[in-house]
Formats: sequence, structure tokens, C-alpha cells
Amino acid sequence: MKTRITELLGIEHPIIQGGMHFVGFAELAAAVSNAGGLGVITGLTQRTPELLANEIKRCRDMTDKPFGVNLTFLPSTQPPDYPGYVKAIIEGGVKIVETAGNNPQKWLPALKEAGIKVVHKCTSVRHSLKAEAIGCDAVSVDGFECGGHPGEDDIPNMILLPRAADELKIPFVASGGMADARSLVAALAMGADGMNMGTRFIATKEAPVHENVKQAIVAASELDTRLVMRPLRNTERVLTNVAVERLLEKEKALGANIKFEDIFGEVAGVYPKIMLEGEMDAGAWSCGMVAGLIHDIPTCKELIDQIMSEADALIRGRLSGLLAA
Ligand SMILES: Cc1cc2nc3c(=O)[nH]c(=O)nc-3n(C[C@H](O)[C@H](O)[C@H](O)COP(=O)(O)O)c2cc1C
Repeated sequence: MKTRITELLGIEHPIIQGGMHFVGFAELAAAVSNAGGLGVITGLTQRTPELLANEIKRCRDMTDKPFGVNLTFLPSTQPPDYPGYVKAIIEGGVKIVETAGNNPQKWLPALKEAGIKVVHKCTSVRHSLKAEAIGCDAVSVDGFECGGHPGEDDIPNMILLPRAADELKIPFVASGGMADARSLVAALAMGADGMNMGTRFIATKEAPVHENVKQAIVAASELDTRLVMRPLRNTERVLTNVAVERLLEKEKALGANIKFEDIFGEVAGVYPKIMLEGEMDAGAWSCGMVAGLIHDIPTCKELIDQIMSEADALIRGRLSGLLAA
């Protein structure tokens, strides 16, 4: 399939694996890229720019296809060494960067100078238009369904994608709630040029996370996610568990007075325990409503091949068949 996104990124299929903390290691990124999609290493999961440089090298050893690096710009009093990470990306020869969080404008000149395509992930039409205006090459439009940070507008993709299509000139992919061929074809119908998946790619053979995480996603239904940190205006969609229920109790009890320190135990530094050690109640971890559509743990190639062949059948069979009469 050829879309503006496959052309822009030089990939075979219009499917991107979004950056995911303690999931987006070289093994997953390489597997997705080898299967014809775009795999993405999560920059900040690597504690230092040197470790990111090494992760990029490991990925290059596993694939000769294009892959990207995610750089998430978080509001922080002690920001990570962003100049160092940008340097590692440029010197590592990476040609695609997925930015997320705050406005990436400050970093665009250096990235563009190095011939890097920037796909900014954002959760609203106004932020998408801002990304277009500052020179991003594409956007990833993340609807309210998404795992991770859906923003504060709460607009689901059924509305957000056609709105984005009406306003944007640059290519965009649909993100949040995407799992299969139906998602891809629907996203294309709503004007997107492809799709970005997070949660679906965690439940794959190559995702280098503990088996408990994959099983938790397979076992979950679409009713099992919760929104946390809403009072802090840092909303995150997570899979419910004991720690999440405790966190929500604290939010209820403390109301508008809640501070980040109050929920430190439930959210800070929990990813390694969950993703690497499989301690599923160690804290809150991002997961999309799309868990309700995930029932198996295929390889990335099986997943992507199935999506593409079923999308073909959907378009040529079911959809054009509806017109035949
Ligand atoms: C476990 C997990 C960790 C994530 N970590 C990040 C991150 O560090 N940076 C980022 O930009 N997005 C992150 N995301 C968001 C994904 O890249 C993607 O936008 C989102 O998962 C799409 O929604 P879906 O899960 O419904 O497919 C994370 C998502 C998950 C599920």
C-alpha cells in the first residue's frame, strides 16, 4: 500500500510503532521495521545519550530498514540532557524522529539540518496545526482512546481524525485505539495516511517485556483502563490494578489539593518493575482501551502481514462489494 506516509518515511506499510517507555527497545523497533512498518526506539528509556547511541547501533545491527527514535519532551524542573539525545540521534544516522509532549520547535533546526523527518505526536487539531506551522513533516494524531497521555480535550478519533483531515496539509497517522485491518481502513477512510499503534505492539513475540505484561493485555477488556493524574492536568490512560485503584482513592480524597508527591509511590520509577520484572501491581502503566481488541501474541511480521492482507480484502471485498448493487 502506498500513502503519503509510506512515501515520506520510505516504508512498505503505513504502520508505525509509537515510542513506549521500557518497551521501545531495539528488539521491538527492529522487528517492526523488518516487517515493513516503522519501528521506534524510545529515547528517554535510555538513561544517557551514550546508552541511546548504543541502542541505535544495536537496532542498526538488527535491521537495514528505516527506524525512528521517540523524543518525549516532558515538563520537568530537571530536564533530561535533550541536546545530548539529539546529538546521539543525529550522529547515529537516524532519519526519523517521533516527538511528543511539549512543542519540539527548539530542536527542529538541528534535526532538519541533519535531514531528519519529524513526526510530532499530539492530541488536538490546534497542536497538529502548530506542528505543521513550525515545520514538522507529519503528525501522529492521538485520540482520547489512546494508551498513555491523551491530553485534556477528550476527543475520540471518530471526531478527531476527520477534523484533522479537514485542517491539515501535511500527512498524518491515526493513533489510539488502532489494532487491526479494520482500524487501518477506517483511519484511511477518515483521511489519515496510516496508523500508529502502541498497546497492540506490546503484545507481540518480539516486544522485550515480561510475559505477564503481554498476558495482562490479552486478558483485559475495553472496560479495564482508567484515567489517572487528571487533577494534575497530566492525564494518563493506564490499565487498572491495585496501585491504580489506590491512586484514584487518593485523588478522590485530596481533590484539587493533590500534588505529584502524594502519588509518587504509584507512578515514579515503576516501569522497570512492571515491564522487565512483571510485577503487575507495582504501579500505574500506560495501556489503551484497544486492549479489548487484543487476543493473541503474534510476531510483528504476522501481525503486520495479517493487517495488510485483511485491509486489502476489506477494501476490495466488503467495501467495494457494498457499491456493486
Ligand atoms: C506502555 C506505554 C508506554 C508509552 N510511553 C510513551 C512514551 O514514552 N512517549 C510517547 O510519546 N508515547 C508513549 N506512549 C504512547 C504510544 O506511543 C502511543 O501513542 C499510544 O500507545 C497509542 O495508543 P494505543 O495504545 O491505543 O495504540 C506509551 C504507550 C504505552 C502503552
